[in-house]
Amino acid sequence: MLQHKSRYKTNTFITGGIKILPLSKLMGAEVIGVDLRKPLNKTTKACIYEAFLKYQLLVFRNQDLNKSEQVSFTEQFGTLERHTLTNKGQSDSPFVHIVTNLDEHGHPTGKVKSTLWHSDKSFREAPSMATLLHAKCLPPNGGDTCFANMYAAYEALPDETQNELKDKKVVHSWELSRENIGRKLSQKEIDDAPPMTHPLVREHPETRRKCLFLGMHASHIEGQNILKSRLKIEALEKHATNENFIFRHRWRDGDLLMWDNRCLLHRADPNFDATQHPRVMHRTCLRGTPTI
Ligand SMILES: [Fe+2]
Repeated sequence: MLQHKSRYKTNTFITGGIKILPLSKLMGAEVIGVDLRKPLNKTTKACIYEAFLKYQLLVFRNQDLNKSEQVSFTEQFGTLERHTLTNKGQSDSPFVHIVTNLDEHGHPTGKVKSTLWHSDKSFREAPSMATLLHAKCLPPNGGDTCFANMYAAYEALPDETQNELKDKKVVHSWELSRENIGRKLSQKEIDDAPPMTHPLVREHPETRRKCLFLGMHASHIEGQNILKSRLKIEALEKHATNENFIFRHRWRDGDLLMWDNRCLLHRADPNFDATQHPRVMHRTCLRGTPTI
């Protein structure tokens, strides 16, 4: 396995009145000295966005945002995205999706969602640009969120494989990914999220770096045998999510994460007793642009 090269140092630095503390050589940085409930000034906002592009995953500690404050913080960076028909959020705040293992009576169900690697809304024509996840209630241990860096995974591939993948397109299907976890969509849901094709190697619209674009919604390679090309996708995903490319976020109370869906995959790790402990997060997403 080729090792990715680190693109940045891991020393803390100060910019625009905030501190940036890189969390690993692979990805991730903690942003220190900002209260997300207050509107950002132009300089701070620009510094946060620059760090977002550079580190792909930002961690803001000790935040306490209600739903409307999270919406206000999110929309400073783009256009809020609606969720799927069944994940439409609550009526008081349709753009905030509640990620929870609790049933309607507030009891832990034992079920943890989104445990497979994915990029949010990769089945849309314009997949999500960013996701923001704010911890509201955490288990005593575990319930981590893991991230895999698709820049690093692509850059580690031999030239020959990179050439092979060039110009290949992948069909992403919400219907198939729900089927894989045992849920049959209604026709209305299928019509709301029909299959969509994206490049297997996408170019990030802002950094212009190339990265793999895969995950649990990826069905098959367009124009190829479905079963055989699924095996190819699975092999690539296995490469892309090996431990060289992974960062594990261990949640603390008050954490708010903001990550770049265009170049990261993520998954929830069910490494806690979900039959006993609540794990509740508030999620907002920003709409992306069609892939190139
Ligand atoms: Fe997700």
